[in-house]
Amino acid sequence: MYLSATNHRIPLNDGNSIPIIGLGTYSDPKLTPKGACATAVKIAIDVGYRHIDGAYVYKNEHEVGEAIREKIAEGKVRREDIFYCGKLWCTDHDPENVRPCLERTLRLLQLDYVDLYIIELPMAFQPGDAILPKDENGKWLYHKTDLCATWEALEACKDAGLVKSLGVSNFNRRQLELILNKPGLKYKPVSNQIECHPYFIQTKLLKFCQQHDIVIVGYSPLGTSRDPTWVNVSFPSLLKDTLLNSLGKKYNKTAAQVALRFNIQRGVVVIPKSFNPERIKENFQIFDFSLTEEEMKSVEALDKKVRLVQLLMWSDHPEYPFHDEY
Ligand code: A2P
Repeated sequence: MYLSATNHRIPLNDGNSIPIIGLGTYSDPKLTPKGACATAVKIAIDVGYRHIDGAYVYKNEHEVGEAIREKIAEGKVRREDIFYCGKLWCTDHDPENVRPCLERTLRLLQLDYVDLYIIELPMAFQPGDAILPKDENGKWLYHKTDLCATWEALEACKDAGLVKSLGVSNFNRRQLELILNKPGLKYKPVSNQIECHPYFIQTKLLKFCQQHDIVIVGYSPLGTSRDPTWVNVSFPSLLKDTLLNSLGKKYNKTAAQVALRFNIQRGVVVIPKSFNPERIKENFQIFDFSLTEEEMKSVEALDKKVRLVQLLMWSDHPEYPFHDEY
């Protein structure tokens, strides 16, 4: 498929389409100045990004909405040119909470619909105001998880016009099959957002998803910010990789651009986060070169089959997704 800076949408199984690169917007709220997210989204839209990945729990969805609305008001883009993905958090899986949560996101964005709404994690936590609920002994408060019931509530949101496409995130094969095999399924998930980069290439889950016409959206495509509170930093730094840097030299590109190009060339959507103007631009400049088949194979061989984002603190949750091989 030919991809260019101005034409890089790929089809989804429900008739909609998704731009193959999006701007990631997670940035530790404690360390991020107010307005940084809005500025980054505006720069990204000026550079040519048409896809923004966000979430209620990132605490900056209002800034994403402000930036998108400003660019629409300026005449730079129309609403239909922009693709926004929002996420349903773990405390909101109960079917009666699904629509109110999506409506809260729409109020923060001040938009009428989102393009994609995904279940952020397959693990339900106790509903309530706490995003990460724990009891008085510091034990996580998990909640009964019924992914099919949550999915049906999402289907109703699509029917109500609040969202164009429905997807999931961090689902393993078994959890995807739960939805795919649900009696009376109305809409298949269009996408599964999972960790995906040259050190964790997800061959098996990618193949399974391709067989079911589910697009993989790769998070942490540059190897994350390496925040030790949620990242396995015993892992070497992806962007220092010798092969990625030498391929970069050959094409006058950076290791980051090679890592992103690798994924888009195999049909994986990438959502690199950057709030830095130069790096936002750099990450978008991946449409003017391509890797040869042999180079794609050599990058594939970097796979370490180890996750950066393991979420081990929740490994005793009945729906912890990463015990299974894929
Ligand atoms: P910054 O926002 O300062 O640019 P991922 O998307 O894999 O989670 O990676 C995001 C991290 O990588 C952020 O810390 C971001 O920091 C940094 N980053 C984004 N783009 C680049 C780039 N082109 N080169 C180096 N670091 C980058």
